[in-house]
Amino acid sequence: MARYTLTVNGAPRPLDATPETPLLWALRDDLGLTGTKFGCGEGLCGACTVHLDGEAVRSCQVTVGEVGARAVTTIEGLSAGGGHPVQRAWVEDEVPQCGYCQPGQIMAAAALLATAPRPTDAQIDAAMSGILCRCGTYNRIRRAIHRAAEAGPGGAPATPAAGAEVKP
Ligand code: FES
Ligand code: FES
Repeated sequence: MARYTLTVNGAPRPLDATPETPLLWALRDDLGLTGTKFGCGEGLCGACTVHLDGEAVRSCQVTVGEVGARAVTTIEGLSAGGGHPVQRAWVEDEVPQCGYCQPGQIMAAAALLATAPRPTDAQIDAAMSGILCRCGTYNRIRRAIHRAAEAGPGGAPATPAAGAEVKP
């Protein structure tokens, strides 16, 4: 065991862990940030996606010892009150079904839009296809990302995004 102080959602968060403890467990078990989900624990599903210095990573595949000074952002810290354009678009397009994969989906989408503000369908599919959704919400995810892109960093439009007629 060693003492680490991780920067999580903008605040220093001390915790005791072994260096090989997955960040996922430090977030969930030590810091109580249970919005980040456990799916496979093997880097295959993306349910555990968080940001490290703004980059989407699978927190089950990053150890506490590897985090260092990088800023960790979880779904709880993505915005104040769910106001991130991706979160607003997710509500507008009613993306979630069971919801389990959705924190990972939202974090991946937010990281995509930070680097590609108007992504093509191909860019969306490339960024998102590894975040598995057993409920098959992929079409709504794509539509919501386009909606969030249209809104830009300031907020969401009041009207449906183009191609938003069909809800599978
Ligand atoms: S729990 Fe991390 S990728 Fe599945
Ligand atoms: S909404 Fe159920 S797994 Fe994605």
